[in-house]
Amino acid sequence: MCGIVGYLGSQDAVSVLMNGLKTLEYRGYDSAGVAYLNEGTLEVRKKMGRIAVLDDYLGTQQWHTQIGIGHTRWATHGRPSDRNAHPHFDCTNKFAVVHNGIIENFAELRERLQANGHRFVSETDTEVLAHLVEEAYRGNLRLALRDALLQVRGSYTVVLLSEHHPDRIVASRKDNPLVAGIGDGEYFVASDIPALLPHTRDIYLLNAGEIVELTPDGINIVDFQDRPVHKEIFHVNWDAQAAERGGYPHFMLKEICEQPLAIQNTLGGRLTPDGSGIQLKEISLNSEQIRNFSKVAIVACGTAYHAGMVGKYVFEKLARIPVEVDLASEFRYRDPLIDPQTLVVIVSQSGETADTMAALREARKRGCHVLAVTNVVGSSVAREADDVIYTWAGPEIAVASTKAYTTQVLVMYLLGLLFAKERGTITQEQESGIVAALKKVPDQLKEILEQKEQIQDLAEQYHDCQDVFFLGRGLDYAVALEGALKLKEISYIHAEAYAAGELKHGTLALIVEGVPVVALATQDDLLEKLISNVKEVKAREGTVIGLCLGKQELVDDACDHVIRLPETSSLVAPLLSVVPLQLFAYYMAAARGCDIDKPRNLAKSVTVE
Ligand code: AGP
Repeated sequence: MCGIVGYLGSQDAVSVLMNGLKTLEYRGYDSAGVAYLNEGTLEVRKKMGRIAVLDDYLGTQQWHTQIGIGHTRWATHGRPSDRNAHPHFDCTNKFAVVHNGIIENFAELRERLQANGHRFVSETDTEVLAHLVEEAYRGNLRLALRDALLQVRGSYTVVLLSEHHPDRIVASRKDNPLVAGIGDGEYFVASDIPALLPHTRDIYLLNAGEIVELTPDGINIVDFQDRPVHKEIFHVNWDAQAAERGGYPHFMLKEICEQPLAIQNTLGGRLTPDGSGIQLKEISLNSEQIRNFSKVAIVACGTAYHAGMVGKYVFEKLARIPVEVDLASEFRYRDPLIDPQTLVVIVSQSGETADTMAALREARKRGCHVLAVTNVVGSSVAREADDVIYTWAGPEIAVASTKAYTTQVLVMYLLGLLFAKERGTITQEQESGIVAALKKVPDQLKEILEQKEQIQDLAEQYHDCQDVFFLGRGLDYAVALEGALKLKEISYIHAEAYAAGELKHGTLALIVEGVPVVALATQDDLLEKLISNVKEVKAREGTVIGLCLGKQELVDDACDHVIRLPETSSLVAPLLSVVPLQLFAYYMAAARGCDIDKPRNLAKSVTVE
């Protein structure tokens, strides 16, 4: 939800900002803008549309600017337009701000500022920040920003540039991410690390309530009492290439294909020395705590919630402990029945999702132990949880989550196994059987990926359809949910997932001749029941694409098409079965000419409620 960059150094600032914004475009892409000092004068260029539109508008002009700020927007207040694009200015045009988040009391602030004579030109909440800074300014930019921020309610990362101080940029964050980068005589701020990687791998991860100041002398961090904050430099150990497309037409396809490695990395290091069991050395929970929990609450949004659904089935089956899975946006407001005997597992790829963060804080307030599963080192979720398990998926750029999901699912197995072991609900033999199956997953994923043409062919046949239904029972239902989300978010085809047994309770009315139905059939003990549901679809002339494990012959007669997965146990099947569904969504969207990596109305990191 909005990408922000700021630069101070000897390179051409506009080029550095534009390259940074291109890397951050996954965060929002309805308009973009830059503000910079040109021979001491604050200037702005902003345009509605993708960053490419701004790029064209800027043209081939040579810029001689060494300081500037930039923004790529995901609209909250005010539709996408040139005028609503950031940066925003005060009345004197001396202060420019870019903002990620929502100023909740903007209406009352705007009214007061207007009564004091301030003139507003946009419909955004952000513009109040520029005017508040203008009012608060007494010669010190840092303090002016602080005093402005003390008046706002809501969420923010904000970066400020002023003509009064041509040698500095100040920035602060509350709920939205901000990192500062230390280059060779040049300094940066950005919403996310990949924007800085072409320049530096040494960064500061900023916390809420800190103000960072970039000057030619370096980076200065203070708190809201203007006291210095001493912080360790975080050295990023992955390189810029990890966040590049590397010859693939889309990040999404690249990230789907990276899943064998992502799973291998997430599993590696979490195996016992003999490789037959698992260990999670990074978490602080001891055996007694694990035995004393009375339930587990998994809380997340979107795809991460679907990983949590797999977690519920896995945890309950292996560790025999009740598990509730909640959407973070519901959990935070429903006065959840949790207490210190509840383990709260927060799942978030970005580690910055606003609703998920709020749920995490609610759980901590109620004395729960919070264990975070996230892909982003040093993210807010990671920093505020009691324990963190990182999914080592590498940077995920496409808005549609793929490798983050499979690694989150893998962590559900690791946690389920740990709990089962400590609570005495599985034998060592069962544990080593499951671990052996997990270890085979990377190679099995490679096998699936080698057959992607089969799925591409199916997509060519069905990409014109209006609706697709996904059916499954048990773990297959959890995966069906993810298959439907993937398809709708990138291809804009209406897709729904149903627990197969629910079909006849209403949805069957929608099955008519030729409607594609994807039936997941990987659960051995539920296979016959699932086949009955497939027959119900066939009786209404729906077209069924079956997805099954190697040997499950029953499926062939019942389905119009069959996608066969490598042989594995039904328990571990979700790690494989989701991949053809990701590919199906990808190729359907490609055949429809959709903007796969940046689907309409969405953004990668949802940092607003
Ligand atoms: C996934 O394809 C989606 N783009 C979305 O549902 C995402 O999973 C959700 O917004 C949660 O994000 P997080 O994992 O970063 O918290």
